[in-house]
Amino acid sequence: MTLPIPESPLLRVQDLAVEFTVGGRRARAVDRLSYELRPGEVLGMVGESGCGKSVSALALMRLVPEPGQIAGGEVWFDGRNLLSLPEREMRPLRGGQIAMIFQDPLSALNPVLTVGFQVMEAIALHQRVPRKVAWERAVEMLRRVHLPDAEHRARFYPHQLSGGQRQRVMIAIAFSCSPRLVIADEPTTALDVTVQQQVLELMLELRQEFGTAILLITHDLGVVAQTCDRVLVMYAGRAVEVGSVRAIFHTPRHPYTAALLRSLPRLEGKRSDRLALIPGQPPDIFTLPTGCPFHPRCPLADDRCAAEMPPWTDFSSAHGSRCWHAGDVTLAK
Ligand SMILES: Nc1ncnc2c1ncn2[C@@H]1O[C@H](COP(=O)(O)OP(=O)(O)OP(=O)(O)O)[C@@H](O)[C@H]1O
Ligand SMILES: [Mg+2]
Repeated sequence: MTLPIPESPLLRVQDLAVEFTVGGRRARAVDRLSYELRPGEVLGMVGESGCGKSVSALALMRLVPEPGQIAGGEVWFDGRNLLSLPEREMRPLRGGQIAMIFQDPLSALNPVLTVGFQVMEAIALHQRVPRKVAWERAVEMLRRVHLPDAEHRARFYPHQLSGGQRQRVMIAIAFSCSPRLVIADEPTTALDVTVQQQVLELMLELRQEFGTAILLITHDLGVVAQTCDRVLVMYAGRAVEVGSVRAIFHTPRHPYTAALLRSLPRLEGKRSDRLALIPGQPPDIFTLPTGCPFHPRCPLADDRCAAEMPPWTDFSSAHGSRCWHAGDVTLAK
């Protein structure tokens, strides 16, 4: 599944910060987040609800919702820092070179326009071609995402399609302009398992065909194992571990990653195997604990963890984490 990955990154996020001000109080939903994505690579971004996955992804496109604000950092894409580009140069990038796919296609699609028309509009926005040609390309794109009987279904409205078919339409829209980066935020969470599988396979097929890099946001490590080349684990707005899928699954170096792995249902396990839930709740960004934000839930925590934020440590060129006890992390319970 793994493609040979060229060296220079397509996307380099450096010290990205996003703040929310609510009731006069300010907090960081994303804090000093740094990572890279190479052309054609699939990077999984994982972590519990509220850890900043969606907000950090929206920040790449400068689409952080109010009252959120980008508070610092750089987002280098193809040699340009997107955070300092004029808005008029940003607009053609969105949906052109960088496309997004969301969890809920029904709210992303316009209910009163046919799906073929919506794919055609996406094509017409970025390619100067006659309407008829744009329509033919739209139908071709719907065929490519394996929408059954695409020519006929192109004239359907979103509500006339199944959830999986609607997500195929969203994928057609996303890939219709041959983007270099697709950001997929929980693209399969709302689908049942078999459809989820088909949609993930489709995305991998298209990344092969178009050489597109994919940032795949998910809370499901099973999806990561099947789909991604590398993984970024987030906790309380920060990266706590980055590594290849193999490194993360076999030798995790952060207790939070290990806890996420233990919470995976075991495919070959006995029925009596129970999901190991991570004790405690993820912190509220307005009342973050001192030191390492994971320390109140961490089995390895000591006084230093409660007092001081651990520095980032690299264990190899492709594997690093932020933990005082990285060397003591095990997968055993
Ligand atoms: N509109 C908002 N107002 C105030 N705070 C917000 C708002 N949107 C997000 N936040 C803050 O930003 C944090 C990160 O939110 P984000 O949506 O990125 O989480 P997520 O990791 O995508 O979670 P999920 O898995 O549930 O989608 C939240 O914990 C919340 O504190
Ligand atoms: Mg989210």
